[in-house]
Amino acid sequence: MLLQIISDIGASAAISIFLALILVFAQKYLNTYGDCVVDINNKKQITVKGGNSLLNTLNDQQIYLASACGGRGSCGACKCKVAEGGGPLLPTEKPLLSPKEQQDNIRLACQVKVKSDIKIHIPESIFNIRKFVSVVESITDLTYDIKAVVFRLKEPAKIDFKAGQYVQLETKPYGKIKQTTVRAYSISSKPEDDTLVELIIRLVPEGICTTWVHNFLQVGEEVNLTGPFGDFYIRDTQADMIFIAGGSGKAPIKSMLQHLQVVGTNRKMTYFFGARTEKDLYLTELFKGFEHVFPDFQYIPVLSKCDDAGLYCARSGYIMPYIKEVLRDPQNTEAYMCGSPGMLEACRKELRNLGVPDNKIYFDSFG
Ligand SMILES: Cc1cc2nc3c(=O)[nH]c(=O)nc-3n(C[C@H](O)[C@H](O)[C@H](O)COP(=O)(O)OP(=O)(O)OC[C@H]3O[C@@H](n4cnc5c(N)ncnc54)[C@H](O)[C@@H]3O)c2cc1C
Ligand code: FES
Repeated sequence: MLLQIISDIGASAAISIFLALILVFAQKYLNTYGDCVVDINNKKQITVKGGNSLLNTLNDQQIYLASACGGRGSCGACKCKVAEGGGPLLPTEKPLLSPKEQQDNIRLACQVKVKSDIKIHIPESIFNIRKFVSVVESITDLTYDIKAVVFRLKEPAKIDFKAGQYVQLETKPYGKIKQTTVRAYSISSKPEDDTLVELIIRLVPEGICTTWVHNFLQVGEEVNLTGPFGDFYIRDTQADMIFIAGGSGKAPIKSMLQHLQVVGTNRKMTYFFGARTEKDLYLTELFKGFEHVFPDFQYIPVLSKCDDAGLYCARSGYIMPYIKEVLRDPQNTEAYMCGSPGMLEACRKELRNLGVPDNKIYFDSFG
């Protein structure tokens, strides 16, 4: 009797596994969704083969939504409004969407699958985003774990962007990594150098893209970049500016300051650069040099570990306690910050406490 029950359970488990495998196979290899119409902004309709994510479907049509995590559902960059046909909200989307966004039918395009006709709304500016074929012109070590890479644009040959914006870099398969992937990197060159894109990339141990850049990428190689993306750029006001960015977060600040050098400014500016030790400092001459370029600019490295004899040990530990030293009119101050979510949140809290309005605190989170 017991043997019979065990054998029945085994047989039904085997049938369930078999059916599940057929389903996975069918979903992967047979397109069961046919042609679907994607309606964009009630203006443009495109017919596509169903079955792919909305993000990839749009990419195939040269419409590039941001996707800083390469479609893994972890960055939230690919948000767009799906008015009809998106299916139910998935558990993978909920953590990245506020209750208001969920109510407004905002979805993660990398998680929504195109299975039927679908209506979406995206900002018109997205139609200006291009995919660029580029050639690696130089790779330079800035520190033991940070490299600057210059990409010369081939097709299209020029890029139009605002200092502070970012591009998505497409990796190639290497070693055990069999697929291409994309990651976001802030442009560190200035917009006036519109035939190239320079990126400053810090190696993340075991990171897919940064390992490729640091250990596999060669001068002369062709690489795809997509962009420009993002709303992290200098507002055209006369307000004082505080920049806060450590590590590779220096990339967009470099672009901003080099752009301001071209157009000129009298604004009061302070840049707090957070680093662990002296060996994490880089481009120091360039940034100290800005103190002679602009009438009111100060570059302040803050090292978290400091040996007292060091050149840059006047301030050490966290950046937050030093912000008040440079604030003269909090209501009339803008902050531009870049880096890890933890550092950004701590500095944002301090800026708010000191009276800097929340709507004047701009940031790009690299996390
Ligand atoms: C708008 C934007 C702009 C960015 N600009 C830059 C830039 O200019 N320069 C730059 O170097 N990076 C930048 N980043 C971060 C970059 O997009 C990648 O996330 C980072 O380079 C890691 O990619 P990876 O493929 O090597 O690692 P992944 O394979 O994605 O990650 C491997 C592991 O490391 C963890 N991890 C991911 N990122 C970090 C990190 N930064 N520190 C520690 N652990 C991490 C992950 O959680 C994961 O466990 C930016 C990110 C955004 C969203
Ligand atoms: S691309 Fe990152 S969440 Fe969709």
